[in-house]
Amino acid sequence: MQKKEIVVSGIRSTGYLHLGNYFGAIHNYVKMQEDYQCYFFVADYHSLTTHPDPKDLKANVFRVAAENIASGLDPDKVALYAQSDIPEIPELYLMLNMLAYKGELEKVPTFKDKVRLNPDNVNAGLLTYPVLMAADILIHNAVKVPVGKDQEQHLEMARNFAQRFNSRYGEVFAEPHVFRFDENTVKIMSLDGNGKMSKSENVNATIYLNDDADTIGKKIMKAKTDSGPTEPNSDMPDYIRNIFQLMQLVSAASTYDTYLGAYNNCSIRYGDMKKQLAEDMAAFVQPIRERAADLQQDEDRLRKILKEGAEKARESASKTIAMARKAIGIHYY
Ligand code: ADP
Ligand code: TRP
Repeated sequence: MQKKEIVVSGIRSTGYLHLGNYFGAIHNYVKMQEDYQCYFFVADYHSLTTHPDPKDLKANVFRVAAENIASGLDPDKVALYAQSDIPEIPELYLMLNMLAYKGELEKVPTFKDKVRLNPDNVNAGLLTYPVLMAADILIHNAVKVPVGKDQEQHLEMARNFAQRFNSRYGEVFAEPHVFRFDENTVKIMSLDGNGKMSKSENVNATIYLNDDADTIGKKIMKAKTDSGPTEPNSDMPDYIRNIFQLMQLVSAASTYDTYLGAYNNCSIRYGDMKKQLAEDMAAFVQPIRERAADLQQDEDRLRKILKEGAEKARESASKTIAMARKAIGIHYY
């Protein structure tokens, strides 16, 4: 039998998952679980850069795991685990840190954004975030990484670290690449037209997998629109394209076509469109929300899933770390 290609991806446990996480990441995970050897994890170490309250950590991790399973991830088919259950990851992170340079880390756009937003908390963990992410990926020698567009630069750094390690110590690591099925869903914009949907920013313009029908309705009815096109077949402003994109993702094709036709002949009524979208969105999110809530009630089951996931992940991680130690010269006894 041909060996399956290895896939790794992670989601930080920094809040409730939203449509961006769903369509940008989890939706791809679910499609990959049949044909690849998949390692999906909750990036709890990555969440520590912002010093979350210790009381919240466990619930955050369990919720992200539950929301992934509720979205269709099958823990029997993939390894689903918490990053902090795999001690080989911080070990590899330490090794890679010796090959990562301060100058290149300071230039990473996500780091510069964080510095601008939180000038009082520029800790070394934030600076070396891409090194930890590279360790997450290289520890399984993954070749495909399903992530949104915002993570491309991090992947490039992971490839650089892999190459640097290999050229200094000999071939240990494969080079990982971003993987996507569908270019259209790489970025879900927030409903106010400012930036992307996110776990912690734009909360009133982000639809969470945990939102009920009423909340979804309110958010969508408030989404930014205008008085409609005046010329047939006009270009769409970004915020209108966004509403159409969401409709394409959750409504019937015939519904989408009807509204697109109305846009193109200038008869569109955004109030009606948003009402329809709110209804279809609520119907789409509801089963995920309910399954996630049920799972979170069943802590024993979640604990068992994460434990088994960690066992599978450690089996692969321990092999890689043994090779890396040997290559570096750490084999004394
Ligand atoms: P967030 O930015 O909301 O905190 P994470 O950084 O944990 O989410 O990202 C987890 C995954 O979800 C990554 O693969 C990321 O690219 C993807 N993602 C996050 N926000 C969006 C979005 N608005 N559109 C598409 N993909 C997204
Ligand atoms: N940095 C990613 C994000 O913010 C999350 C992440 C951490 C990740 N480690 C990873 C994604 C490894 C893919 C592979 O979205």
